[in-house]
Amino acid sequence: MAEAGYNTFLLRSEDVYIDLLTDSGTNAMSDRQWSAMMMGDEAYAGARSFYNMERAVREIYGFKHMVPTHQGRGAEHLISRILIRPGHVIPGNMYFTTTRVHQEMQGGMFVDVVIDEAHDPAAQHPFKGNVDIFKLAEAIQTYGAQNVPYVNVACTVNLAGGQPVSMQNLRDVRELCASHGIRVWCDATRAVENAFFIKDREPGYADKPVRAILHEMMSYFDGCTMSAKKDCLVNIGGFLAMNDETILQQAREQVVIFEGMPTYGGLAGRDMEAIAQGIYEMVDDAYIAHRVNQVRYLGEQLRAAGVPIVEPIGGHAVFLDARRFLPQLDQEEFPAQALAAELYIDSGVRAMERGIVSSGRDPMTKENRRPKLELVRLTIPRRVYTDRHMDVVAWSVKSLYERREEIRGLDMVYEPPTLRFFSARFEPQPVGVKTLA
Ligand code: F0G
Repeated sequence: MAEAGYNTFLLRSEDVYIDLLTDSGTNAMSDRQWSAMMMGDEAYAGARSFYNMERAVREIYGFKHMVPTHQGRGAEHLISRILIRPGHVIPGNMYFTTTRVHQEMQGGMFVDVVIDEAHDPAAQHPFKGNVDIFKLAEAIQTYGAQNVPYVNVACTVNLAGGQPVSMQNLRDVRELCASHGIRVWCDATRAVENAFFIKDREPGYADKPVRAILHEMMSYFDGCTMSAKKDCLVNIGGFLAMNDETILQQAREQVVIFEGMPTYGGLAGRDMEAIAQGIYEMVDDAYIAHRVNQVRYLGEQLRAAGVPIVEPIGGHAVFLDARRFLPQLDQEEFPAQALAAELYIDSGVRAMERGIVSSGRDPMTKENRRPKLELVRLTIPRRVYTDRHMDVVAWSVKSLYERREEIRGLDMVYEPPTLRFFSARFEPQPVGVKTLA
């Protein structure tokens, strides 16, 4: 941990026992996906594999057009370049690191319009990712509809704890935006998990297949950015999908500069085959129920032991609430970073900080943004681990919780200028700097 600068991103995977850093690109592919890869058409232009992927996106998501990208942030880059101009404001249901950076790089400003409950780890709400319609209306009023190129709705909301958005809320957002002529864009990275929560929790959906629910969700959007490394059960890839032909045209013009030809966008033909097959597999009701329930299985063990976690338990991860876990630490002593480091030292389990380090500095004031949520994310890869692995993780977290008063804070000794969490380095605070309460 010392060699890795107390940053779990800087560990070698060989030195990790159970890897819960992320669910991104860490999925196990199925026999059918591997077989599909053998059929990859590696033509530079117009590959059959592109048309297979396009067909899968059309059928399952329902968007007319699709441009592949190397991963989610490639799609975020394209849509930000196409729609955002300096002075624009992009309301969204909580920030995501790469999404916001791309908005800011085009001179835009992100405005948070998620419901208040999303910022309170203990608040109970079945759809904690919902957009607060009043906040959204207020933002449109304050900045003017002409300065809002689109509203970005993430389903689920990663940094709120993998919390879903309800179908009713999507309808409400659509209606409000339509009345102002504003587009609505989806970050569909974990939309299948969101669809499962709608089936589980929203009246009228219990008997609908997840596939139909996903399709309805997407019908309220003009398009989506997608990191296929999550829902689509692959190791690399993404896409930008849309109905509008003008945006398609612009996306094709941009993708060729930054990613590759519009029929491969930075992917090999075999990658596009694996995505196409994964898109059909991800909407299997039994698979997605197992996936979300495995996350719940881990979370419920921690909750039963009194460990403070974000509630309700989300779709892709269990989030430890480092503020309540380590109340002796100030946020500027990086409690979530320190807790993730301790977990690795205890059991070789790798988790990820999602707090003040991830949140970075305000581009204007250069001050640390102090997010309300100071979390450690235990992210479950898809189709990789068994429930016995979850038991090991639970034991380790519980033992840390029992000796939580011994855990010290960190000092940041190297800070990169953007997305600092990936490569920042830390050192433990010297003993005696702080007296524990
Ligand atoms: N949007 C969301 C909600 C994400 O969670 C991610 C990535 C992206 C966009 C960007 O996609 O990584 O393919 O470029 N999340 C990963 C994670 C990194 O660990 O949560 P990408």
